[in-house]
Amino acid sequence: CSLDTFNTLRLPARAEWLAEPASDAALVALLCDTRWAGLPRTVIGGGSNLVLRGDIDGLVIRPCLRGLATLSDDGLVEVGAGEEWDSVVARTLAAGWQGLENLSLIPGSCGAAPVQNIGAYGVELGDVLVSLDAVSLRDGEARRFTAAECGFAYRDSRFKSAEAGQWLITRLRLQLRREPELTLGYADLAERFAALPEAARNAQGLREIVCALRRSKLPDPAELPNAGSFFKNPVVDAATLARLRSTWPDIVAYPQPDGRAKLAAGWLIERAGWKGRREGALGMHAQQALVLVNYGGATGADVLAFAQAVRDSVQALFGVTLEQEPVILGRATATA
Ligand code: EPU
Repeated sequence: CSLDTFNTLRLPARAEWLAEPASDAALVALLCDTRWAGLPRTVIGGGSNLVLRGDIDGLVIRPCLRGLATLSDDGLVEVGAGEEWDSVVARTLAAGWQGLENLSLIPGSCGAAPVQNIGAYGVELGDVLVSLDAVSLRDGEARRFTAAECGFAYRDSRFKSAEAGQWLITRLRLQLRREPELTLGYADLAERFAALPEAARNAQGLREIVCALRRSKLPDPAELPNAGSFFKNPVVDAATLARLRSTWPDIVAYPQPDGRAKLAAGWLIERAGWKGRREGALGMHAQQALVLVNYGGATGADVLAFAQAVRDSVQALFGVTLEQEPVILGRATATA
């Protein structure tokens, strides 16, 4: 089966087998089916944080479990892994539940959201997630993980690093709330919010600002294939920041609670000359240098080589190592 339309970078790759279970029973039946015994198993969600390097051997599973339900009067909400993330943001806000507005318009499925601990404008999924259900890809055993057990960190979790490829997330439970308690730490967001008419200064108003901000900087994957930020913002110690500042006084850095600083990778990439630069089918976006875009026809190998060239020039100029953000899947050999 072709996975071309199941990854937002639009990279060509095939799955040996593809299954789209829509219920727990179908999922368990699939995992226990002797026809697939011994085959490698890989989970993909919306494919919006994925670099498909080549074809995927064995069974690829795209969870399609649906459902959005309010579990309690105080805003505990349960959502199926196959629901589209932004639709859940929109629907919970429409129902009067707040807490996801800063995470508006992030592409992808709910099941993928905890894997990379999606985050934007000062909020991360880990701030609102209470627990999630998963099944072991090995034997179908069901397990509930509390937020503390998920190992959430900046764009990371146990499902992306320590236990990558071992679990399939089936549903999430999120703690939302009725009272307005908005997160406005991001300067651009706060300014735009303050400029709203008073009646619009609420979670829905904030969602609209986040959507407008994202649309102004981030390319729509349906129009220009991409996987969002292609690198993490690197965290450096105070001595490294001081060294960088002496050469680059306007370097963009955000202080971290532990005394270190998070650098804006987009700034580093822009200064290294990659903003809006295109080489063949690939480029770094003209409005946001952190987003790698596929103008059409690139392979996974092309993406990895291009990303390495960007990483090398940032390393050479600043002595800072960029870490790739999207997950890499598929065989290292090129597709036919
Ligand atoms: N900047 C530049 N040039 C650029 C891009 C950015 O100089 O081309 C500098 C600017 O100073 C800007 C600063 O970098 O103020 C920060 O840029 P931006 O606000 O666009 O955020 P970001 O740090 O580049 C991160 C997340 C985004 C998230 C935004 C908003 C990561 C890897 N990316 O980007 O997440 O939407 O903050 O919170 O942390 C994603 O993960 O796919 C993603 C889009």
